[in-house]
Amino acid sequence: MKYQAKLTALSQATECIIIGAYEDNEFSRSFNEADQATQCYLNGLVKSGELTGKLGQTLLLRELNGIAAKRVLIMGCGKKGELNERQYKQLIQTMFNSLKDANIREAISYLTEIELKNRDLYWNIRFAIETIEHSHYQFDQFKSQKAEPIKLETLIFNTDCQQAPLAVIHAQAVASGVKAARDIANMPPNVCNPAYLADKAKNLAEKSTALSLEIIDEKMMSELGMNAYLAVSRGSTNPAYMSVLHFNNAPNKNTKPIILVGKGLTFDAGGISLKPAADMDEMKYDMGGAASVFGTMKALAELNLPLNVIGVLAGCENLPDGNAYRPGDILTTMNGLTVEVLNTDAEGRLVLCDTLTYVERFEPELVIDVATLTGACVVALGQHNSGLMSEDEALVSDLLNAAQQTTDKAWRLPLGEEYQEQLKSPFADLANIGGRWGGASTAGAFLSHFTKKYRWAHLDIAGTAWLQGANKGATGRPVSLLTQFLINQVK
Ligand code: BES
Ligand code: MN
Ligand code: ZN
Repeated sequence: MKYQAKLTALSQATECIIIGAYEDNEFSRSFNEADQATQCYLNGLVKSGELTGKLGQTLLLRELNGIAAKRVLIMGCGKKGELNERQYKQLIQTMFNSLKDANIREAISYLTEIELKNRDLYWNIRFAIETIEHSHYQFDQFKSQKAEPIKLETLIFNTDCQQAPLAVIHAQAVASGVKAARDIANMPPNVCNPAYLADKAKNLAEKSTALSLEIIDEKMMSELGMNAYLAVSRGSTNPAYMSVLHFNNAPNKNTKPIILVGKGLTFDAGGISLKPAADMDEMKYDMGGAASVFGTMKALAELNLPLNVIGVLAGCENLPDGNAYRPGDILTTMNGLTVEVLNTDAEGRLVLCDTLTYVERFEPELVIDVATLTGACVVALGQHNSGLMSEDEALVSDLLNAAQQTTDKAWRLPLGEEYQEQLKSPFADLANIGGRWGGASTAGAFLSHFTKKYRWAHLDIAGTAWLQGANKGATGRPVSLLTQFLINQVK
């Protein structure tokens, strides 16, 4: 779909104009204008009680005298000045569904006049585009019956605001990154294995001159001493691949890179500590971290931000077989610390610890890892907030700020020294699990042993990377948060 932001006259001919109506006889500018043009036809609707302006009300009017557009779609916006972000997104979704159902190809939206609580016009437009792109996403490539393509081709936002074109550009790049992340994450695990992730990275790298790719295979991992990562991979016949995407676009090419590391377990059966059967299919989403890093790199390349960023997809599969690693095994990680495996299902931290050591060589400005790491994080925060763990106050504040801006929410969880107590092992430097309590924080505490050489934050997206139930599927989170974080890094 195409989006434009420009100033148009209400009298312009088009297939549909979209106008907001408030409750309590408060009218938007274009509502009044259209009312005058139609000799108070709209006011008549209000007086008769047909048009209340209640949030979510839709009224599709055809061929009004005095209006050049073929149709006028009136959207109820509730009480003036009270619309919050969630309600606004709901409103946009309803609007989009109305345009879709009426097979409209081009529309001009005057909802740019609707004021959002604590948000400016830039966000009005950006949320609208991201919401529409999100809601018409389909993953039907394995279905015989495909969804019907929608007719809507062009949506124009009426505005002369200087920030508007940028809002369109940002929204489209974020939407494209989110879609890419959802596509990869929804892919079944018999297709999306570590080699597939590496292949995706290769395709992406070929599309942008600022991007280049290194692929670390198992032989190289072995030479590097990435024994924790390799131990997880041993039970699978699909070999592990770690894809390292370099985006080198800072004005000074030697600027230290921002590094994003994504957990890429293309399937996590738990290994010898096998998971229960119920919902195990959802563990195809255990590569949601890698998918979101991929999507963020794609958005970054489309925006061509003047930054140096490295995105790492830590691809691996965790399965039980005769060659699989076992509870009781002691592994020597790449940084020399030994780990006693007490549960082979706590594999994400083992793959990540070596990846986090590996990225030291790039002398990072900062590192953010993104991982569907613990069920405990879902218990703590539910499916609305990603868990954010870091002791770097400035980084925490930057990430929470990006989360607040994008509504791709995150909530801080603790990461104190006291959690280290739970990771003690009688036989090795560390145990790979920390017992029953505070599982998200003990996982973070485990990772913190491997991030001492740089500024670091950890995002646990176990609750936010995909949805269950009727809307089952990947969410593409936290591409939006991460992309915004990067946009904000541009000085
Ligand atoms: N990938 C899972 C975490 C997970 C579980 C995410 C459920 C989303 C939903 C991770 O590898 C895992 O199995 N973690 C274990 C850790 C435990 C053994 C300490 C968990 O959370 O149960
Ligand atoms: Mn696991
Ligand atoms: Zn896992």
